[in-house]
Amino acid sequence: MSTSETPLAEPSQLIAAAYDPQLVRELGKRMITLLADHLSHVGSGKGPVLNWDEPSHNIDLARAELEAGNASVPRSADSLLARFDELLRQSLSRGQNLHHPHYVGHQVPASVPLAGLFDSVTTLTNQVMAIYEMGPWATAIERAVVEQVGEAMGFRSGQFGGLITSGGSLANLTALLTARNVALGDGWSAGLTGRSPAPVLVAHAEAHYCVARAAGVLGIGTQQVVSVPLEKNRRMDVNQLDSILADLRTRGVPIVAVSAAACATPIGAFDPLVEISEVCRRHDVWLHVDAAHGGAACLSAKHRHLVNGLELADSVVCDAHKMMFMPALCAMVFYRNRDHRFATFEQTAPYLFDPSAPGMAEYDNGMVNLECTKRAAAMGLWGVWSMFGSQLFEALVDTTFERAQQFYELLEEADDFEAFCQPECNIVVYRYLPGHLRNRSPEEIDRFQLQLRRAVVESGEYYLVQTNLDGRSYLRSTIINPLTTREHLRGLLDCLRKWGSQT
Ligand SMILES: Cc1ncc(COP(=O)(O)O)c(C=O)c1O
Repeated sequence: MSTSETPLAEPSQLIAAAYDPQLVRELGKRMITLLADHLSHVGSGKGPVLNWDEPSHNIDLARAELEAGNASVPRSADSLLARFDELLRQSLSRGQNLHHPHYVGHQVPASVPLAGLFDSVTTLTNQVMAIYEMGPWATAIERAVVEQVGEAMGFRSGQFGGLITSGGSLANLTALLTARNVALGDGWSAGLTGRSPAPVLVAHAEAHYCVARAAGVLGIGTQQVVSVPLEKNRRMDVNQLDSILADLRTRGVPIVAVSAAACATPIGAFDPLVEISEVCRRHDVWLHVDAAHGGAACLSAKHRHLVNGLELADSVVCDAHKMMFMPALCAMVFYRNRDHRFATFEQTAPYLFDPSAPGMAEYDNGMVNLECTKRAAAMGLWGVWSMFGSQLFEALVDTTFERAQQFYELLEEADDFEAFCQPECNIVVYRYLPGHLRNRSPEEIDRFQLQLRRAVVESGEYYLVQTNLDGRSYLRSTIINPLTTREHLRGLLDCLRKWGSQT
């Protein structure tokens, strides 16, 4: 591209500049430098974890850049580089810094940065997959990754199948749609209207909201979700499950599936999958396991006992963008019986699927995935796995689970904090209870937790979330940056004390 200062006023000049590989080379170098500097800055704990600003102000700023783009005419490579630099800096300085060791919030990781580099190959060359020939390599790497994780879960090689889709919510919806079609026979073509008795979905009482949402989307109806009560440790009560299924079968109520959790979102409790699968088998019910968060425990020799029995489920969901530390989104769906993949959607699309190559259906992602054009979402996972082996994922799981135990110990040692329970994974739930709060009403204590969290989050010093258990408010942290240390967690307690004295 020209280095002169002549405006690029003609459409052909704009297009040539936007597609100029030389410009990509220059801007790309700049981008990598800025990104590496950013990671190094936030990774060393400098600056805020969350760059808090009011939504309206952020939207005004974002809109102003678009309007500046409309108003200006790019001139030279240098002016584009300067504009690129400015936009990148702004983006990096206004977001949520997941790689900051004080990020102990939602179940979204400080992703392995190298995965982002592999992902940029996908994005820059726009690798997609609906049918094999649209993305042969994208399809191949997805296959290979699904095979490796499925085998680590204990599924039988050659007998199970799976796919990757955009997020745990869509993955759960996909698997439950498959279950619905298998359980109801003609559900796909006839729909659910007029069925009597109406079908139900039986789910862990604290299933992620996307499970009830799936029931709504699939026409089962959110009121048709039967919640299985939990034991004291908030795992599904297997005896209660048994009674519920026996009662439903006696009354002839069609059961779409049992949806168990490994682990459930609120406190990270893992359901007893072996016992649950035995109950489901006895009542001839599809077992689905939402292992969006905890599924990666299968890669850890130390923690895989938490997910024993995954291999007995009919379908399993596991998010690589949670405990495999991949950038969003990369969610895997597994079917113990690989043929079930084709029960999800019973459609033909002559403009897409080629009848002269019927064997290709095995590899055509669009046959089994709600998405048609689908990003090659496994590129980062495949690249990082190929460089470091599964040992890296084991190390990430072990390190963050261990750090959560250390955090629990710190909470137990402190007189002014109370842990809800000992964590089973890397999710820790707790409250700050300074002396002056002890005689206050439960409602005041709840309000204090929420106000305290808001103050800390807006300060940018730490990022944590809140939850509500049995009607009471708690603070909640997921230790999901492997570089968060015990000292950072000790600092979190001090930070809560500091803001607590002003709340
Ligand atoms: C157990 C469980 N299932 C599903 C989801 C939803 O996953 P996603 O945010 O990728 O849609 C979550 C998110 O935290 C979760 O914890």
